[in-house]
Amino acid sequence: MSVLPSSGNGKITVPDLLQRKSNSSGSSGHPQKITCLTAYDYPTARLVDEAGVDILLVGDSLGMVVLGHESTLPVTVDQMLHHTRAVRRGTRRALVVADMPYGSYHSEISESLHNAMRFVKEAGAEAVKVEGGERRLELISRLTEAEIPVMGHVGLTPQSVNALGGYRVQGKTPAAADQLLRDARAVESAGAFAIVLEAVPRELAAQITRGLRIPTIGIGAGPDCDGQVLVIHDMLGLTFNQTPKFARQYVNVGEIISNAVRAYCTDVQSGEFPSDAESFHAPQAVKSRKTIFIAS
Ligand code: KIV
Repeated sequence: MSVLPSSGNGKITVPDLLQRKSNSSGSSGHPQKITCLTAYDYPTARLVDEAGVDILLVGDSLGMVVLGHESTLPVTVDQMLHHTRAVRRGTRRALVVADMPYGSYHSEISESLHNAMRFVKEAGAEAVKVEGGERRLELISRLTEAEIPVMGHVGLTPQSVNALGGYRVQGKTPAAADQLLRDARAVESAGAFAIVLEAVPRELAAQITRGLRIPTIGIGAGPDCDGQVLVIHDMLGLTFNQTPKFARQYVNVGEIISNAVRAYCTDVQSGEFPSDAESFHAPQAVKSRKTIFIAS
């Protein structure tokens, strides 16, 4: 299903995304924003890819929106590999980025490299995403040296929920804003090709975006980033908890599914489903045979 990255065949590559940022800083016209959505399975990947989204992120948010956990912390490497393979099979054009889950890059660098390589070799990811700024400098440079493109992620990093004390907007004091700027610069200087800014004041995200050569992908970071990402379940209305204010819902698929399921139940109960046209029919020889009931 995959398409080999080669210039001009429409496949989105890491150099394409970097090129868009350098085009946008030089030209006077509207820069072409980068679109990114999460995807966790084959049909969603196909639909999102065929609709023209640039980056499919197999986010560890799947722990919450697909597996029903309260945070992303329980997600394992094996679960992420399983979902990344499905997304890979459904994607032809977009860049497939796999999130490294909590615990898979937090101890030895050699183990982190081994885990990241599994995403590339076993699941077909074209890049991995890791959360954290300055403290990930060495990790990001080692991954890049190993030919694994890295997407950084700073601001609200959900894997740090216990350390942060909740899911809150980050960078709201001058000191926190300065730290965020340092974090973003560190991620860039370590060799990342893009960086997610999550739950960051618009003005700060704009400042970071202006200051970096790599594209910023915002989620709750305002319109001035080089691209945007949303969790697909939020934008489709498939989540059960209250969603953050930045998660614009484009359609209520949850309601569509509930209505369809209710209609199915009603049709089964009333005998409306299946109809004769939805049934198989026996050939004449079978219909006209003598039926002998054998008493037990
Ligand atoms: O896991 C995820 O879906 C993410 C995005 C919210 C950026 O990290």
